[in-house]
Amino acid sequence: MAYAGNVGSGRNPDPSAAYRHIERMVPKDARKHEPLSRHTTLRIGGPADLWTRPRTVRAALDILSFCQRESVPYLVLGRGSNVLVSDSGWRGVVVNLSRGFCRYKRVEGGARCGSGLGLPSLVRRLAADGLSGLEFAAGIPGTVGGAVATNAGAHGAEMLRVVRRVVVMMEGERRVLSRDAIPFSYREATVPGIVLEAELKLNEVAPELTREKIEHFMDIRRKTQPIWRKTAGCVFKNPPGDSAGRIIDSLGLKGTTAGGAKVSELHANFVINADDATAADALALIRLVRERVSEETGIQLELEIELIGNFAL
Ligand code: EPU
Repeated sequence: MAYAGNVGSGRNPDPSAAYRHIERMVPKDARKHEPLSRHTTLRIGGPADLWTRPRTVRAALDILSFCQRESVPYLVLGRGSNVLVSDSGWRGVVVNLSRGFCRYKRVEGGARCGSGLGLPSLVRRLAADGLSGLEFAAGIPGTVGGAVATNAGAHGAEMLRVVRRVVVMMEGERRVLSRDAIPFSYREATVPGIVLEAELKLNEVAPELTREKIEHFMDIRRKTQPIWRKTAGCVFKNPPGDSAGRIIDSLGLKGTTAGGAKVSELHANFVINADDATAADALALIRLVRERVSEETGIQLELEIELIGNFAL
């Protein structure tokens, strides 16, 4: 049974009755044929059969368990920041965990944070509460859930290092896992379920000091990454001991285009949706870059972003 990760594969040959059932579960929070380009930071992606944004944890759990029971494919999305969704979209249900998953509670030596909380605003809230440790994530345009599930990182720090416990949905139940129960490595975490909440372990530090750190990291990011453009973050993982951006740049690939997609001139490991790019444009560009890097250096770059939907691979 596919419980791990944000995608549930299912082979229900005729999910239309299941879709109607889900629409009745969250009538105000379900949309048919919703373009996923509205819900990804790259602003690319075809329609989802059914897009939902449940308001409560209970409603989300009910939808997800129903999909699992009825073998309906589902996709859990936060801010859609580390993904490339295909032009044909998603044949199944999308569950957006933002509304109803933004609980925040200060606890001894840390905070409990709902999976739908956005990292940039969470980092500022923690600073105001005198809590430090998550500043590295100030410029990551994702949610707590996405960051835990992918072990997001920056500036030499990573998400799972500041996590104490994770609340997940597993086999239709809410379970609490200690961080030690989750194997993780660079930009990867094997979370056995869907992340609902994370308890972070943080230090008590004066707000001004934490704010200074945030500003410092944001300053670096503004100077080195195309944060104002439509992107999905770094496209490739860094190969051991090197930077994918440095390698791609050294081959003179900044500014290369495929249709409306372009390799950023600021940081070569970012693909920008520069001019109404399609997913096919973005993938063609990613392939071109990967092939050039392989030919010139022998390095096989691995994707950091997740491809969602059907791509002719
Ligand atoms: N560089 C270039 N040209 C470029 C990009 C980088 O020469 O186009 C050089 C830089 O000058 C520097 C070196 O490569 O000497 C490393 O660059 P940078 O400090 O920007 O770090 P990175 O390895 O390219 C990593 C993460 C980023 C994270 C930054 C900052 C990965 C794949 N990338 O980038 O994470 O924000 O460090 O900590 O691990 C992401 O995961 O989506 C992401 C953007």
